[in-house]
Amino acid sequence: MPANIVVGTQWGDEGKGKIIDILASRAEVVVRSQGGNNAGHTVVNNGETYKLHLIPSGILYPDTLCLIGAGVVLDPKDFISELDSLKERGISTANLKIDPRAHIVMPWHIALDGLSEQFRGNSDIGTTKRGIGPTYMDKYERCGIRMYDLVHPEILAEKIKATGNLKNKIITAVYGGEAFDLDAVTAEYTEYGKRLAGYMDDVSVLTYDAYKNNKTIMFEGAQATLLDIDFGTYPYVTSSHPLSAGVCVGTGVGPRVISNIIGVAKAYTTRVGKGPFPTELDDEIGEKIRNVGGEFGTTTGRPRRTGWFDAVIVRHSVRVNGLDALAINKLDTLSGLGTLKICVAYKKADGTIIEHFPAALEELADCTPVYEEIEGFNEDISNCKSFSALPEACIKYIERLEELCGCPIKMIGVGPDRTQIVER
Ligand code: GDP
Ligand code: IMO
Ligand code: MG
Repeated sequence: MPANIVVGTQWGDEGKGKIIDILASRAEVVVRSQGGNNAGHTVVNNGETYKLHLIPSGILYPDTLCLIGAGVVLDPKDFISELDSLKERGISTANLKIDPRAHIVMPWHIALDGLSEQFRGNSDIGTTKRGIGPTYMDKYERCGIRMYDLVHPEILAEKIKATGNLKNKIITAVYGGEAFDLDAVTAEYTEYGKRLAGYMDDVSVLTYDAYKNNKTIMFEGAQATLLDIDFGTYPYVTSSHPLSAGVCVGTGVGPRVISNIIGVAKAYTTRVGKGPFPTELDDEIGEKIRNVGGEFGTTTGRPRRTGWFDAVIVRHSVRVNGLDALAINKLDTLSGLGTLKICVAYKKADGTIIEHFPAALEELADCTPVYEEIEGFNEDISNCKSFSALPEACIKYIERLEELCGCPIKMIGVGPDRTQIVER
C-alpha cells in the first residue's frame, strides 16, 4: 500500500492541510515528522474551518491513526488547547499518539525566540515566536527535554532544574530579560505531562507496523522547501528539515517505506516573515492577490507577501524532494488579474541566465526574475470539477507550469473546501 509524503514547495502555506485532508480520506495513518506549532494547516469541510498547528490533518476522520513523530517539537500548552478545541467541536482525538523522543517547547524557548529576534533588530528573521528555533538548538546541544521526560515527574523536575538555571542566566545576564520561577514551571509542566501521558507511544514502531500491515500512510509536511535549514533561503528559514528526506529521520522509518512524494504549490507565491522573494509584487496586483486569496498567516495573522509563480523555486523543490507529482492550489485566486507572469529563470547583473536556485543570498540578491507572460482568465472556476472543464487559459497556464517545473501536476485547487479540487 502506498506511503505518500506531502511537502510544501515554496515558503509554506501552499494549502498542504487541504491536500492532506483530501488524501487522508484514503489513508489509515497520518504522520507529522518535523516542525511544531509554527505550522498552521487549514482544512475546510462543508463551511466548517479547522486550523491545525500540531495535530495532523487526518484528525477529522475518526478512524485515522494520527501520529506525531520524534522530529516534531511539541508545545504541550498549545497542544492541549488544540485538543480541547477539537473536542469542543465533537472531533475525537482518541487516535492520536506522540513519540517519546519528541522535544518539548519550554517557556524559556519562547522567551528566547522573542529576545533573540529583538536583539537582531532590523536583521530579524521574522519567526513565529513559538520557540521553535531555541527548542531545536537545545535538541542539538543535547540538553533538551523530551516527551518521555514530560510524563515522568521526577525526571522532569531534575531536567528543568539542570537546564532552567542556565536558561535563566542567559535570559537575565545576556538579554536583560526576566528569570522563570523554576518551581512554578515544574508544577505547570507536570500537570501537562499528566494530561498527555496517555498519548505517548513509539511512532517509529507504529509507522513501521502500519507499513508491514499494508496500511496506507500519509506523511504530512509542515513548513516548506524554501524554509529548510539547509536548502532554504538561509538564514531566513525554520530550524528543521521540511524536505521529503526529513520525513524518515523525523519518524524513524527507512526511505524504502516511501512510495510517492507530492509537492504542494500555490498558483502564485507567498511568504510570511522576512527574507528574499525575487518575484514579490509590491503593487496593486500583489495587494489584490493578498485580499482575494485571503493571504494572512494561519498561525500569526501577519499579512503574507505575494508574488508571481517562480518556476526556479519549484524546480529546486522538484529536485531536492524528488517529487513524483505536484498539487497546485489557489488557481481560482488568479481570476480577473489580466495577463499573468511566470518567472522562468533568473538573470544576474552580468547578464548570465541561471536556472537553478542559488545557494547563497548574496548571489540571489544579484538576480532579477526573467518573466514569461501568459494569457489570464476572468471566469469563476470555483465549481469546476474536471480539468477539461477549466477555461482554455487555465489549462494552458497549468500545462506551462508543468513543463517549466519538470513534474506532472496531478491536482489543482479551485477553492478552500475539500471538494474544490480537480484531479487529473
Ligand atoms: P498550509 O500551511 O500549507 O496547510 O496552508 P494554510 O492553511 O496556512 O494556507 C492556505 C490557505 O489557502 C488556507 O486558508 C486554505 O483554506 C486556503 N486554500 C487552500 N487551497 C485553496 C484553493 O485552491 N483555493 C482557495 N481560494 N483557497 C485555498
Ligand atoms: P506551514 O506548515 C509559513 C516561517 C516564519 C519565519 C521562518 C522562521 O503553515 O506552511 P520559525 O518560527 O519557524 O522559527 O520561523 O519560517 N514559517 C512559516 N511560514 N508557513 C509555515 O508553516 C511556517 N513555519 C515557519 O514565518 O519566516
Ligand atoms: Mg500554513
